[in-house]
Amino acid sequence: MLTVRAPATSANLGSGFDVFGVALVRPGDVVRVERARETTIEITGAGAEFIPTDPADNTAGVVARELDAPARIQIDKGIRPSSGLGSSAASAAATAVALDELYDRGLSDEELVRVAAEGEAAVSGEAHADNVAPAILGGFTIVTDDGITTLEADLSLVVCLPETVVSTRDARGVVPDSVTMDQSVETVGNAATLVAGMARDDPDLVGRGMADPVVTPARAELIDGYEAVESAAREAGATGIAVSGSGPSVLAVCRPGDRREVAAAMVEGFSEAGVDARAYPTEVGSGAEIYR
Ligand code: HSE
Repeated sequence: MLTVRAPATSANLGSGFDVFGVALVRPGDVVRVERARETTIEITGAGAEFIPTDPADNTAGVVARELDAPARIQIDKGIRPSSGLGSSAASAAATAVALDELYDRGLSDEELVRVAAEGEAAVSGEAHADNVAPAILGGFTIVTDDGITTLEADLSLVVCLPETVVSTRDARGVVPDSVTMDQSVETVGNAATLVAGMARDDPDLVGRGMADPVVTPARAELIDGYEAVESAAREAGATGIAVSGSGPSVLAVCRPGDRREVAAAMVEGFSEAGVDARAYPTEVGSGAEIYR
């Protein structure tokens, strides 16, 4: 038997829609695998009742099929589904890393990311690697059609998860089909600023670079309380804020000393809108880890 933990992740970071992702120190999913004649899946933990256990419909089951690596797979969810924190990506990433090791497949990092993205596509409908890449590799990741670039970053973050659900399908439905040249220039400038900030571990630059004139305003409409959370977080010291992945979680960047206050302010912002929420003060973390 082999156990792998893969972290929650936050994709997009505002200006890097479908490109940027970051691994969080917490929360995370834990996956245990052992060889079997055919794949079976058991799920416990946050939101387990909403996740299909038929291997054909489950991210981990699809990963096992892709790797031709049948296994008894036990998933303990630390990240509930439809949270915007890469829940299905974490299960897919942990399973890919675990089965690669269990069956000694010797996959490269990029191959592991591709296999895990196939698994995630089973539930989201489209294969995005912006959550599975940081879930496997850790740090800050930049995913393009030509490959994956990673940067280690020392950065304080808060993710705040409300007790509401936004499906990735709905969240993709509100993304505009096109952008103006002005929006494109602004987005490129912000994304470049964010990458420079990550390279320098500078929360002010990262926060400034998260501004996004295109996707964030459209998705914020789907999240009750987003505006109140944004202003409360900024008042408490957040340097930048964005919808985490497809939502409804909200991601804030701040200086290390402001983390607790920003977390409390975000919970209070949701509460003003009548929404219960839980905040995780966290930081940029490592990718999937194998425990024997
Ligand atoms: N980049 C994706 C999105 C992440 O925002 O829709 C969720 O799969």
